[in-house]
Amino acid sequence: MSDVKDPGEIFSLEGKSIIVTGARRGMGRTHAILMAKAGAKVVVSDIDQKDCERVVEEIKEEGGEAIAKKCDISKKEEVDALIKTTKNEFGSVDVLVNNAGIADFKDFFQMTEEDWERTLDINLKGYFLCSQAAAKEMKEQGGGVIVHVGSVAMGQVGIGFPNLVHYVASKGGIAGMTEAMAVDLAQYKIRVNAVAPGMIDTPMIDPIKADKSSMEAAVQRLPMKRAGEPVEISKAVLFLASDASSYMTGAVVNVDGGWLAS
Ligand SMILES: NC(=O)c1ccc[n+]([C@@H]2O[C@H](COP(=O)([O-])OP(=O)(O)OC[C@H]3O[C@@H](n4cnc5c(N)ncnc54)[C@H](O)[C@@H]3O)[C@@H](O)[C@H]2O)c1
Repeated sequence: MSDVKDPGEIFSLEGKSIIVTGARRGMGRTHAILMAKAGAKVVVSDIDQKDCERVVEEIKEEGGEAIAKKCDISKKEEVDALIKTTKNEFGSVDVLVNNAGIADFKDFFQMTEEDWERTLDINLKGYFLCSQAAAKEMKEQGGGVIVHVGSVAMGQVGIGFPNLVHYVASKGGIAGMTEAMAVDLAQYKIRVNAVAPGMIDTPMIDPIKADKSSMEAAVQRLPMKRAGEPVEISKAVLFLASDASSYMTGAVVNVDGGWLAS
């Protein structure tokens, strides 16, 4: 018997129960669809139940297994209900993909305390609440995987992100949290990694796309001269969610068309 498994087996999520937050559209939608294609039973979660159900239908049409569950990740009681539903419906919580987030472009001096709290509540506290609730189950089960979706906009990367002070603070927090969680949870066989996307073509960048010249300038800055497709991030999420990354924990993987290299 070879000690080297087939790629199909290494990347397989067959029978795994996976939660994807922020999955009604954008990257979350493609993470959910790709995970289902890799054999996972997927909980499609977001703030709108009907939108989640549409993604579930897409998955089912292609022969996958999924359920929809509304959850605002900034609310502990909704997060607890998400984990409970996952356990009840699929029997376990094997992988959590913390993907939900907001980017509320705001001038620094116009940024209110409420703006700051809303962004940090969703982008950072929400990741903590989902992680803690999921990790409790994973610890009891004897292991699991958590994948955070951070951003290249996390600070200390040598490029600036105007009008996003609260967003960059939250994504920097995710980078730190990834390392700290990896250290705390390795003893329970729970791996924690993050993917840091560059500029990806989702509704989140509509404000940039609305101004054609600023979008063109943004694309020209990128060595690959194009924004990424959502599924190009999902492929990295699949890598981190699967046995393909079995010896990785505490890492932040940049998927950015060479942006940080430029
Ligand atoms: N698009 C980019 O260029 C880019 C770059 C780097 C990182 N990211 C990150 O990728 C992730 C996915 O974003 P996207 O680009 O697909 O944008 P998107 O706006 O299409 O998706 C974000 C999703 O999160 C959901 N969401 C917002 N608040 C929520 C809450 N309180 N509870 C649950 N869900 C909530 C939204 O409803 C939406 O479906 C985010 O964490 C974002 O910060 C995006």
